[in-house]
Amino acid sequence: MSPSARILVVDDDATIRGILAEALAKTGYETLEATNGSEAEHLARQHEPDLVLLDVAMPGEDGFSVCEHLKSEVSTSDTPVIFITAKTNPAHIERAFSVGGSDYITKPFHMREVRARVCAHLDLHRAVRELEKSQAALLRAQKLEAVGQLAAGVAHEINTPTQFVGDNTRFLQETFSDVVALIETLRGLSSADSPPPSADQLISTIREALDQADVDYLLAQVPRALESSLHGLKRISKIVKAMKQFSHPGSSEKEQANINRAIESTTTVARNEWRYVADLELHLDDSLPPVPCLLGDLNQVILNLIVNAAHAIADVVGDGSQGRGKITITTSQVGGEAEIRIADTGGGIPEAIHSKIFDPFFTTKEVGKGTGQGLAIVHTVITEGHGGSIDVETEVGKGTTFIIRLPLEAAPDRTEAA
Ligand SMILES: Nc1ncnc2c1ncn2[C@@H]1O[C@H](COP(=O)(O)OP(=O)(O)OP(=O)(O)O)[C@@H](O)[C@H]1O
Ligand SMILES: [Mg+2]
Repeated sequence: MSPSARILVVDDDATIRGILAEALAKTGYETLEATNGSEAEHLARQHEPDLVLLDVAMPGEDGFSVCEHLKSEVSTSDTPVIFITAKTNPAHIERAFSVGGSDYITKPFHMREVRARVCAHLDLHRAVRELEKSQAALLRAQKLEAVGQLAAGVAHEINTPTQFVGDNTRFLQETFSDVVALIETLRGLSSADSPPPSADQLISTIREALDQADVDYLLAQVPRALESSLHGLKRISKIVKAMKQFSHPGSSEKEQANINRAIESTTTVARNEWRYVADLELHLDDSLPPVPCLLGDLNQVILNLIVNAAHAIADVVGDGSQGRGKITITTSQVGGEAEIRIADTGGGIPEAIHSKIFDPFFTTKEVGKGTGQGLAIVHTVITEGHGGSIDVETEVGKGTTFIIRLPLEAAPDRTEAA
């Protein structure tokens, strides 16, 4: 029992309403009373009760319609509704559950039963809330872990271009001393203090200076070194930008995002996870409209699926020295949805475990390589966070494709937990 819970009692019959409210108040609940549907909806919106006890037959709006309205509003959509009615027809009971009711009590009722059911639903609701909270915490923890895991790969990715930018800069520093020597010679020749040399002398001194500076070599190598440094710096800035985008804390509100860019940045930061065993092909549909999404969470979904694909391929090709696999990521618009397909040429998923792969903590990987949280998080983020769907097509010996669909129109959402 939770004394702090607030219960809205809705009944047009003042006696019944009074009995219910009084008994619940005595038990320690805070109670609110409404005599009809519109008053009930108004009070629910204003006070956000923890549970609603709802009569069905009332003048004006009936209880089923009230329940439907409560379920369609963000602030009351997950508030448990218990119908309490004289109607005992199974069709009514069925209707009560189909409009989102959590339970059904028939009149005449026993107060002990009402109390027990109220208490059970409050406990259940609280447990679901806790679960949602711990799921959100799990999501954050996995994200931090992923950023940590990727950091080593990103450091490596940045290190290589940094090294050759350094080598090139040192080369330019050395060659610049030859250029300085050449300039000094030319300056000496043009100086007004020294007697003017003959044309022959002049030419031979210049030739000697040009030879000494190895000008042909400089003319060939300096532009190359500059080119390669610019290329390296571009690569570093691409990785840093991708890391920034990937680790973007993400708001709890959906934003209109370019999911092609999200895929590009995630594959860039995760490059170290797949590049030894697979080639990556991106087929990103440029005409795809922005998708309302929680970008940080979506990045994490893509990362989890890429890492799974790389692991599945590694199981087939080993360290990559005997051949490589392929990861193909495709985006497109399918009706009113954006579709992301992540396909791999790994070993596929055996039929016996199809139904388990999205279960929390289900893994076939050894300790240290997988904890079985990846796909559970992917599933929660896609279905609950985005109102989308995720399917899998797989063939043992050939590979696996995960297919994500995200609605292009933002639905009224319940994302605060994610
Ligand atoms: N692309 C894939 N190819 C083959 N099997 C896969 C693929 N993706 C997932 N699986 C199977 O599903 C299981 C669950 O995947 P999930 O991502 O949830 O956990 P994990 O990868 O084992 O661990 P974690 O993601 O927490 O590091 C994997 O252990 C693997 O057996
Ligand atoms: Mg995984």
